[in-house]
Amino acid sequence: MAGSSKHVRLGVVGVGGMGGHHIRLLLDGKVRRCRLTALCDVNPEFLGRYNDDVEKFTSFRKMCRSGIIDAVLIATPHYAHTPLAIEAFRAGLHVLCEKPLAVHKADAEKMIKACPRNRKFAVMFQMRVSPLFKKVKQMIDDDKLGRVTRINMIATHWFRSNAYYAGGGWRATWKGEGGGVLINQCPHDLDAWQWICGMPTRIHSVCGFGKWHNIEVEDDVTAIMEYPGGATGVFVASTGEAPGVGRFEICGELGRILIEDNELRFTRNASSALTFIKKTKNPFARPASRDIAVRVGTRNPGHRGIIQNFTDAILDNKPLISPGRDAINQVELTNAMIYSGATGQPVDLPLNGRAYKRFLGELVSGKRNAG
Ligand SMILES: NC(=O)c1ccc[n+]([C@@H]2O[C@H](COP(=O)([O-])OP(=O)(O)OC[C@H]3O[C@@H](n4cnc5c(N)ncnc54)[C@H](O)[C@@H]3O)[C@@H](O)[C@H]2O)c1
Repeated sequence: MAGSSKHVRLGVVGVGGMGGHHIRLLLDGKVRRCRLTALCDVNPEFLGRYNDDVEKFTSFRKMCRSGIIDAVLIATPHYAHTPLAIEAFRAGLHVLCEKPLAVHKADAEKMIKACPRNRKFAVMFQMRVSPLFKKVKQMIDDDKLGRVTRINMIATHWFRSNAYYAGGGWRATWKGEGGGVLINQCPHDLDAWQWICGMPTRIHSVCGFGKWHNIEVEDDVTAIMEYPGGATGVFVASTGEAPGVGRFEICGELGRILIEDNELRFTRNASSALTFIKKTKNPFARPASRDIAVRVGTRNPGHRGIIQNFTDAILDNKPLISPGRDAINQVELTNAMIYSGATGQPVDLPLNGRAYKRFLGELVSGKRNAG
């Protein structure tokens, strides 16, 4: 339909918290050339909340084969993302999937493989349309820091109480979502990490499983990452810390980029620190550095921006901002951190997806304990 049709007919599957948010955006006409034509949920009561002129289905297969949609937005719990996306691709539909793409790498691979060449496959990583993160990505791509030497991210601003977890359902269990803070709260952070800085080749992590809460999955993580060029990274996440920190720092020979409190700070060295180390004769000298003003946009389209881009990709063949094939990296980082945290062993990437699936299966069945 690229180029010919005037709008995309979209079906949303999973009309809970996040699905409900997307449905509102669509019904309010916030996404140009995208029309909500169908809804699907296994729970008919939830569908009953919508009186609007939209077809409702409890069978996803029927919605996919109804002929009234061109694309689906998947907003169900994570394990269902894989079978639903594959079903949609089989029906010739385009797919926009909520994060995380999948619970484990083997499922993510299946989804990517199932996508026909002429269909669009995107993932809801709305941090990719945030002006701050876009700017940092551009600065790293433009080599503003030269050789990157260290990456730090602290994502401890995800505080949750026992009351949140006691809400039950599919959250915070191996069976229900295949992990904790890494799979539920942190996919955006980890995607931004790999989108901007690329993938490490080795991960060693320390995870607390139910360290602060009455849950079986990880709620506290410190991961060390190693890159082939010698750069190292530290990623910290927790749902048990208040006030918590949201900080992303990238250091390179030419300076430092820092995002904290919704602000970007760029400190530039007058010369390469790595060259300076070798050349200076002064034992206590250091390269001069100063803060450089960076212009950052103020408009953050959030989820709407990703749905708009998905629509434009279908109709005008625009490049996807957050393609499905990229999202496997976040899944891989998450899986590697959980595996390393549970076994105490470092993990070399690429991760063996089938081995991780087996390991996760043992956690789900109770054959193995993570903590
Ligand atoms: N991008 C973001 O900012 C963001 C924020 C929150 C949640 N999410 C993601 O959205 C997804 C849903 O999270 P939520 O908080 O909306 O969950 P939720 O529990 O509030 O809603 C899930 C809905 O899916 C339905 N459902 C479950 N299995 C189904 C199936 N097989 N077929 C059809 N319907 C099914 C449930 O009945 C429910 O209505 C998760 O993957 C989550 O990670 C993304």
